[in-house]
Amino acid sequence: MVAKEKPAQLKIGNKTYDLPIHSPTAGPDVLDIRKLYGQAGVFTYDPGFTSTASCDSTITFIDGDEGVLLHRGYPIDQLAEKSHYLEVCYLLLYGTLPSASELEKFESLVISHTMLHEQMVYFYRGFRRDAHPMAIMTGVVGAMSAFYHDSTDIHDAHQREVASIRLIAKMPTIAAWAYKFSVGQPFIYPRNDLDYASNFLRMCFAVPAEDYEVNPILSRAMDRIFTLHADHEQNASTSTVRLASSSGANPFACIAAGIACLWGPAHGGANQACLEMLKEIGTVDRIPTFISRAKDKNDPFRLMGFGHRVYKNFDPRATVMKQSADEVLELLGVENNPVLQVAKALEKAALEDPYFTSKKLFPNVDFYSGIILEAMGFPTSMFTPIFAVSRTVGWISQWKEMIADPQNKIGRPRQLYLGNTSRNYVDIENR
Ligand code: CMC
Repeated sequence: MVAKEKPAQLKIGNKTYDLPIHSPTAGPDVLDIRKLYGQAGVFTYDPGFTSTASCDSTITFIDGDEGVLLHRGYPIDQLAEKSHYLEVCYLLLYGTLPSASELEKFESLVISHTMLHEQMVYFYRGFRRDAHPMAIMTGVVGAMSAFYHDSTDIHDAHQREVASIRLIAKMPTIAAWAYKFSVGQPFIYPRNDLDYASNFLRMCFAVPAEDYEVNPILSRAMDRIFTLHADHEQNASTSTVRLASSSGANPFACIAAGIACLWGPAHGGANQACLEMLKEIGTVDRIPTFISRAKDKNDPFRLMGFGHRVYKNFDPRATVMKQSADEVLELLGVENNPVLQVAKALEKAALEDPYFTSKKLFPNVDFYSGIILEAMGFPTSMFTPIFAVSRTVGWISQWKEMIADPQNKIGRPRQLYLGNTSRNYVDIENR
């Protein structure tokens, strides 16, 4: 990282401080404030990190105004159309597209690690049947550190690699079993002759009494959902993984922290919240009421599946996801499904409404992914777990990048303190 010749200057009182400027390969310049506190004794204030780069990275680039998303330089629409999830995993993890033999080796490595330690079955059985699958996933993934001791030493590159493959390989099994447990069906074990997406669909929908024939269009759509959610640079859950791992925590604990963060409705929980909202709207004639509520400053209601912190023109993932949604709905012949009809009418109404267009609020990836998953037969509670399966590779790639970085430090933000200054303790009888 080489700073520009001419630094930025910050004047505080009659003193001027030089702030080095770093030029990225793409995106806006970045002011380096690392020495600011030491030199000037001031902090910067940026809740929500809207103007703060927390790290340097070579994995993913987003230009929100132009609707660009690149993984290692490759546009997401090309990857979604020409590649597939495990190849994108390889790209994110190792930085280059694999040769045919590298891909074959990587795929067989992942496929041969999909089984869970059998003892984990008992761990699942400890949950209540009505537990949310995200609650189960957070617990089970965190517990992996108790099952796979030989891959928790973050200072050993081989162990880091083993943990990475284990997490990517086992996450579909973990999610599918969380679902099976919640519906009271026996766990379905992975099959090594199936591809990643088909294996996941089968583990969710087969039962011992009847196998599940995976339709290639559905498997392709599932693979696309995985691909489109694979990484998204320093979003909330990825930053959580990085912050957790900055203390030296083991990879399973860090990914469990990422899953917990992803669960929130402003992040990965949006696709579940979106479908629940569509069901609450219920019929097309009720759409105007909900649009008015979303526009009302005094009403906390927001149109779920609309808007994005970074994309302010369109979400490039949503464009591909919409195509997939059309394909899946046609294949399944569910165009008349009332939820899907509400979704289509709501999308049209919002895109024609100046409130949404002027604020650059467009459907995001979660608006369409929820529709596809609903049509495939997944309950809404499984939407966020599926996002977690997809994002695991992003979290791991960013985690690996961070651990290998010699500049890696424990994350420790500062604060603008507005509380009481020092005061004396008052005995209870005198309060
Ligand atoms: N419905 C109605 N109004 C909205 C919405 C919405 N979905 N999103 C933003 N606004 C309004 C907001 O009220 C504000 O208006 P004003 O300027 O008059 O105060 C303006 O648009 C800007 O909103 P913001 O909250 O400052 O924007 P943000 O960048 O902090 O929030 C967001 C981004 C995604 C949290 C937000 O758009 C939202 O809550 N959307 C619904 C939840 C959702 O779909 N989340 C999934 C994001 S994609 C998945 C992922 O990458 O994790």
